Amino acid sequence: MSRKEPIIAIDGPVGAGKSVAARELARALGFSYLNTGAMYRAVAIAARAAGVNPDDAKVEARLASVLEAIKIKFDGEKIFLNGRDVSEEKNAPEIGDLASRFSALGAVRARMRELQRAAGAAGGVVMEGRDIGTAIFPDAEFKFFLVADVNTRARRRFEELKKKGESISEHEVLDQMVERDRRDSARELAPLKRADDAIEIDSTKLSIDAVVAAMKAKINARIKAAKDLKRA
Ligand code: DC
Repeated sequence: MSRKEPIIAIDGPVGAGKSVAARELARALGFSYLNTGAMYRAVAIAARAAGVNPDDAKVEARLASVLEAIKIKFDGEKIFLNGRDVSEEKNAPEIGDLASRFSALGAVRARMRELQRAAGAAGGVVMEGRDIGTAIFPDAEFKFFLVADVNTRARRRFEELKKKGESISEHEVLDQMVERDRRDSARELAPLKRADDAIEIDSTKLSIDAVVAAMKAKINARIKAAKDLKRA
């Protein structure tokens, strides 16, 4: 695949700091930013509105028309599902859980893969999720896998939800997070897992600025090494 600018893939579990780091890295590089988790959340909202249950034996058939018609648009921080602003609604913990359930289905993953590959094909993008470096763009020029201690991740997620006005305890957040990571890692299709060639960054003791700085340092070092090789 030839593209003028690189694709930067950032994968990892819930609460490892992917979204903030990806957004900040994209801003620093002048790249676009794509939050693929938000796309799965939009699917969950659309499926719920259509009365589709993820545990239904015929779920994929019932979802076909929803997936065919789905239109997901980003506008800065906002996300629109079929023209409706779902930026707030998508953050609810039950939508995260539903997104995780629907994301295990082949039909859902195939549609998201199509949209995500189209969005990133030209490069110049920071894309974050669970399977960007393994399944969506296995040939991405840069791959990062962001991890953090589970209690730190739960605390971060809890603070984030509290700020957004969600009423949930830290303990509930931890339980839901562990279950969601388990499901996302155990599923058959494109499970959450570090790509062999991804650089792992542990953000437990790092600020977002430090995570972004570490990513930029890796990117610059690789670009410099490639230039040196060309010159030699
Ligand atoms: O990043 P997030 O928490 O908003 O993602 C919600 C769910 O979507 C997550 O639990 C699993 C699914 N997801 C996925 O399967 N693949 C991705 N690339 C991104 C998210």
